[in-house]
Amino acid sequence: MLSRFITKPITSTLSRSTRITSIRNSAIISVHRDTTEDNQNMPFEFNSENLKRAKEIIAKYPPQYQKGAVMPLLDLGQRQLGFTSISVMNYVAKFLNMPPMRVYEVATFYTMYNRKPMGKYYLQVCTTTPCQLCGSDGVLHAIEKHLNIKPGQTTPDKLFTLQEVECLGACVNAPMIGINDDYYEDLTPEKTVELLKQLQAGKELKVGPVSGRESCEPFSGPKVLKSKEPTDIRKLTRADL
Ligand code: FES
Repeated sequence: MLSRFITKPITSTLSRSTRITSIRNSAIISVHRDTTEDNQNMPFEFNSENLKRAKEIIAKYPPQYQKGAVMPLLDLGQRQLGFTSISVMNYVAKFLNMPPMRVYEVATFYTMYNRKPMGKYYLQVCTTTPCQLCGSDGVLHAIEKHLNIKPGQTTPDKLFTLQEVECLGACVNAPMIGINDDYYEDLTPEKTVELLKQLQAGKELKVGPVSGRESCEPFSGPKVLKSKEPTDIRKLTRADL
């Protein structure tokens, strides 16, 4: 694993050699540059459904703290447009009466906001230690080979965008990937390619482990909580508590 991130030694006047790590895509700092797809002249406003939703979200905050809604509102904008453009950020800033810079700070800090146009399916491959130990390198390479793209790139048909990400919180079912809002777990390179082929064929995927596990129970089957009947919690606790 380590060797993937280490490049050749830098020659220097120091007698000791220094090594540097290569830049990971997840570590790229977002800097806005106007493009044809993302510039301040592109109009954006919530559609009627999202406008209603935004008002409902804002109503949950006291009047002096309505800026707290910046994250869910950016998320609404991203879902509507497909990415968090400069126009989405400016619109949310105006909506919440915030300085635009405050909104830019949020949108460029959290990796959940995509600052570039995305493919229909956003593939997030976790390569943090538990997933890496269970074979995430193979999963990533299988995706790269099948789609002929590298992390940070989108396929020419705009169907897939690939990204390498840190832990997505499903380590018990490693290795795993996120596709849009859903997780696919217990993957192998072969099973991953199967998932991609299904998406390419326009089929719906079954969310969760692909190994046959229902959740994160042992591979040999569940050992506890086996009853399908609803359990009366009072039978499991002390009466004097
Ligand atoms: S390490 Fe991959 S989900 Fe936690």
